[in-house]
Amino acid sequence: MFVRYGKPLVFLLCLVPFGVLIARGASGALGPNPVEAITHFTGDWTLRLLLATLAITPLRRLTGQVWLVRYRRMLGLFAFFYAVLHVTTYLWLDRFFDLGTIAEDVLKRPYITVGFAAFVLMVPLAITSTQGWIRRLGRRWKTLHRAVYAIGVLGVLHYLWLVKADLLQPVIYGVILAVLLGMRVPWRDLAVRLRSAWRRHPWMAPERR
Ligand code: HEM
Repeated sequence: MFVRYGKPLVFLLCLVPFGVLIARGASGALGPNPVEAITHFTGDWTLRLLLATLAITPLRRLTGQVWLVRYRRMLGLFAFFYAVLHVTTYLWLDRFFDLGTIAEDVLKRPYITVGFAAFVLMVPLAITSTQGWIRRLGRRWKTLHRAVYAIGVLGVLHYLWLVKADLLQPVIYGVILAVLLGMRVPWRDLAVRLRSAWRRHPWMAPERR
């Protein structure tokens, strides 16, 4: 049942925040500063969906549920969808496409520089997410798509940098990201390699020198 209707269901679930945003906009419930409210809302959902995308592989490994991978691309593309809304809100509603102010922001405000870098990195990943590109790029596809880790780090940095007082939320995102990235490190192999490198070190085996 879930396997059959899973994809349309996840698709609709990913559209729920967009629906909420439209409903709030239509009913005037975006508060005194609608542009700020939209920027915050879409920024949050970009990061949430990015973390959901990054959670698929560790979850699959932990549970052995291979089917989870079927949802990874969709979640990643929805993260990009909310990023496009987020960036468009900034470019259009906040900066009215004034290229001078935008360039100044990107160059002089570190949190914008970092967010901009994250968004630029997202573009090639979204473009090459199709089966055709996976086939065409072969092994290079995997290497390219490792950029998603950098996007996660830049996204959290962007948030940490822009927050003035309450760091709790970006710190929570940061901890979740650290756990998700940490679960990808082959700790046991690393420990074995470090131990053998340490044993081979001249300090540990002076008799062989
Ligand atoms: C060109 C790229 C980007 C620009 C110009 C940009 C700009 C902004 C701005 C102006 C804010 C509001 C700052 C404030 O009110 O003080 C914001 C908030 C935020 N952005 Fe971005 N952003 C970009 C890309 C991204 C990306 C790629 C992500 C996620 C991976 C992201 C996640 C967030 C988050 C989580 C927030 C805070 C939301 C909240 O306060 O609840 N942004 N961004």
